[in-house]
Order: sequence, then structure tokens, then C-alpha cells
Amino acid sequence: MPLDQHILLKGKFIIPRHDGTVQVGATYNWNDPTDIPDAAGIQELAAFLDQELGSGTWEFEQIRAGVRPATAGAYPVVGPHPKHPQLIAFNGFGSKGSLQIPYFAEALIAFLEVATAVPADKEQASLHTEVLPSRFIKKAASKPKRWIATNVVKSEILGALSKGDLAIDATAGNGHDTQWLAEAVGPAGHVFAYDIQEQALAITRERLEKHQLLSQATLLQNGHETLLETIPQQHHGQITAIVFNLGFLPGGVPTLITKSDTTIRALKASLTLLKPGGTLAVTLYPTHTGAQEEVDLVLSWFHNLPENQFETHIEPHPQNNLSSPYPIFIKRR
Ligand SMILES: C[S@@+](CC[C@H](N)C(=O)[O-])C[C@H]1O[C@@H](n2cnc3c(N)ncnc32)[C@H](O)[C@@H]1O
Repeated sequence: MPLDQHILLKGKFIIPRHDGTVQVGATYNWNDPTDIPDAAGIQELAAFLDQELGSGTWEFEQIRAGVRPATAGAYPVVGPHPKHPQLIAFNGFGSKGSLQIPYFAEALIAFLEVATAVPADKEQASLHTEVLPSRFIKKAASKPKRWIATNVVKSEILGALSKGDLAIDATAGNGHDTQWLAEAVGPAGHVFAYDIQEQALAITRERLEKHQLLSQATLLQNGHETLLETIPQQHHGQITAIVFNLGFLPGGVPTLITKSDTTIRALKASLTLLKPGGTLAVTLYPTHTGAQEEVDLVLSWFHNLPENQFETHIEPHPQNNLSSPYPIFIKRR
């Protein structure tokens, strides 16, 4: 192969230069940060030249070593400086990348021609984002997703629910939980949703109607403390999921809150309604007036549940935000 026209790349490279000499490289020594060529490297290159060009046909004119910066992914750096677009980079090809130089040279020329002519056409002659210098600018870390207690409940309960199951929303409120419960159990299943407020059930009904879910739910304007009397007897011990979202109706009257005595009665009833393997999830709100008493009583009841019958866990706020609501889970063994 006539070397005056081609770059030879075989682990190492031989690049012809305009003055008739060739450049050969490279060897690497990760442990030597100096720019002094080492004997082993020189020997390795000599053997490569003997093999490719024939021994006695060449001699070293200059031997150089250096510390070479590298880029992540080993992509070259081609394109305008992100803050000073009049500065253009065309660098970082390294030995292997040298074969890409003609391609990127053409791409850069096309980019520059369009960039200086019609700004609207820039897109058509755009450079690959992987090679743009702007890739080195650190982007602000995207905001971590907000931790929401009711989402934790939703994902855990959805993991346990199947089509055809029975579920209870003990505090329907604006109907968000009733909706995803009804979707999860499907037309073959059923959700019983409770609230003491007519307004809450009206909103829940509207939501279910809108999503064509009303036929798979029964809305009861009853306190959840009536669970044992209002859930049909044949379903006792058959419920897969029961969800309580304590506190007051968002957007409603803040004094109409769940109360510890009725909450505890309803929680006790829930355990007899669950089927083996079924889950009860309770989201606790620690901040509104009267909330702490309810939280304390629920937690004391929760911590005294017989371990041989129930598996329990608490999902605290990940940053231990004490004013944030958080869920507790009880699974019937
Ligand atoms: C935090 S909200 C529920 C939010 C609801 N899960 C949602 O998705 O919008 C609490 C609800 O519990 C209701 N509530 C209060 N005491 C109740 C009781 N004894 N039985 C049933 N619901 C009750 C309130 O009327 C209020 O709508």
C-alpha cells in the first residue's frame, strides 16, 4: 500500500506527512507522567515499523513523548465555543480519531457556511451533539422527583392488586384513590368508597363517571367506622386492599377531619375484612390541629399488632421531614 496516500491503522498508526516523512505512534505508559520517551516504547514502535515497512527501510528522525489529555467517550471536539461562538474547536482526534478528520472537516465547513449565511438553516448542517464543545458544560442536575406519601401507597397497593379484586377506599375525599383502585380492579372487581361528606362523594362520583368507572364502585356516605355493618357479609375476609388517607378534604372544610376514635374502630374492622395476603395502607398527617393525637393512637395500635398475624412497615419521609405525611402498611399473613 503506498503510504504517501493512506493512514495505516493497526493498533498503532503510521500517518504520511507532506514532507515525505511518516509519523508513527503511539505507545502508552499510564504510570509515567513525564514527557521523556521510554526505551520500551521506542522498541515497540521500531518493531511495528520493521513489520509494516521492512527493516532497514526507515530511521527515526525525532522521538517525542507527552502527556495526552483524553475525553470521555474519546470523541473529538468540533464546533463553536458555547459562550464565544467566534472560537471554533477542531481537536481531540487522537490516533484512531485521525481517520475521522476528513468527515468532521467537511461537517465543520458545512456548519460554518450555513451558520454565517441563514441562521434558520443551521439545523440542517448541525454537528453531532457528542462532539460539540458545549457538551463539557455541566447541566444543572434535574430536580429529584418529589416524594409524595400517597404515591408511595399507590405504587405499593397497585403491585398487590389484580383485576377482579375487591378494595376499599375508607376516605374517598376528592376520589383520587378511588379512581386508581377502580382502574386496578377493573370491571370484574369492585371498590367500596366511604366518606362522611356529601361534597366529597359528589366529586368522587363525577371523577368516576368521567373515567367510566362508576359501575365498578359503590359510594357510601357513611363513616368508615361502619365498615363491618356496610360491607356485605360475603366479602368479609375477601378484601385485597384497604386505603385510608387521614386528615381533611383538600379544598373542603378543614375542621371535618378524621377522628382518632372512629379511625381506630375502622382500622380494627379493616383487619377482619382483609383476605390473607391483603394489605391495609394508612397515610398519616401529623400537622393539622388534632392530628398528633390521631397519629399517636394509630401508631400505638400499629406497633401492638400481633406479629404472627400481620406484617407491618412504615415508610418515613426520605429526608425525615417531620411535617410530611407518611404511610404505614399492614399485610395480613
Ligand atoms: C385527606 S381526605 C381524603 C383524600 C382522598 N383520599 C383523595 O384521594 O382525595 C380525608 C377524607 O376523610 C373524610 N372523613 C373524615 N372522617 C371520616 C369518617 N369517619 N369516615 C369516612 N370518611 C371520613 C373527610 O371527609 C375527607 O374527605
